[in-house]
Amino acid sequence: MTEKDFIPAVSFNILEAGNVHAEAPSNIALIKYWGKYPGQIPANPSISFTLNDCRSSTTIAYNKKDKENSGISFEFLFEGQAKPEFEPKLQTFFERIKKYLPFLENYHFKIASSNSFPHSSGIASSASAMAAMAACLMELEKRHHPGITPEYIAMKSSFLARLGSGSACRSIAGGLVVWGLHEAINGSSDLYGVPFPAAIDEAFQDYQDTILLVHSGQKQISSTLGHKLMDGHPFAQNRFEQANRHMNEMKAVLANGDLEGFVKLVELEALTLHAMMMSSSPYFMLMKPNTLAIIERIWEYRKETQVPLCFTLDAGANVHVLYPAIYKDKVLQFIKNELVVYCENEKYICDQVGTGVKIS
Ligand code: DP6
Repeated sequence: MTEKDFIPAVSFNILEAGNVHAEAPSNIALIKYWGKYPGQIPANPSISFTLNDCRSSTTIAYNKKDKENSGISFEFLFEGQAKPEFEPKLQTFFERIKKYLPFLENYHFKIASSNSFPHSSGIASSASAMAAMAACLMELEKRHHPGITPEYIAMKSSFLARLGSGSACRSIAGGLVVWGLHEAINGSSDLYGVPFPAAIDEAFQDYQDTILLVHSGQKQISSTLGHKLMDGHPFAQNRFEQANRHMNEMKAVLANGDLEGFVKLVELEALTLHAMMMSSSPYFMLMKPNTLAIIERIWEYRKETQVPLCFTLDAGANVHVLYPAIYKDKVLQFIKNELVVYCENEKYICDQVGTGVKIS
């Protein structure tokens, strides 16, 4: 599919009023997206597990405006409250996508969104939020063009979500999702995420992600700014090449059920992401002392017990602990006994691989 395939060719009737609703999960990258080109094109391919319980739930009420094609118009409530600080991001999103959803300027939208996870938790919510928005808008497109197929809806939802936040395009499908063109991954694209199309050993079917909430404060640097700092970064080119190689390695690991290889790749990716941040100009650091304390303890525990758990990090201080479901009781006991002391207010969230977006 090319960008042009997402511009509807057929005309549409303007509807009077109605509601659309979608729920979309967050995702956790195993191979990280860090660095992008104009138009939300990733500098390297990435792959993530779609999560299940950390979700955004969004309802969009649409009402026909008196004047046709009269610009983007919306109101936004987050958990029942106006959030003017989110409005510029939404405005930019609508401006970017209106070419692909030409009916948008005929409606006034009332958007109401909430998250299943505490918003002060420091968990990135832009992926689930933008995926839920995109899925709602594709439901609205379906009401204008009832003939569109589920496959097209999934692809275009991901395409639109990407224009809101890059990683959001990996929150439409479930399981393992790839975003970014890679020669060894059939159907992969810079424009949208696709379910990982090759063999996946059953060891990876039921992965758990326990998110240790280390720090909930405001981040010093947003992801968007962090991506920008990869422009002209002295290690950028090597990093992008490394991520491409890691995709090949991950493909083999997933096919062979190689848990040891998985642990090594996932942890190397997390630390490389943070190494890029620490060597940007200006440099910055999102890990906290407790992030490091947890990582060291995970390494010791893995050595002592041979349990194949590993950690990953997104753009923040929280630690995602990843492991197959058969180790759940054991790992949760370890977390309760030894890791919660490093969490803010001893808080953590138990999540697992999920099935993706839900429309209702
Ligand atoms: C570290 O998707 O939040 O989580 O495209 O600017 O919205 P924008 O960035 P965003 O970046 C996420 C970066 C990451 C790694 C990843 O999820 O792959």
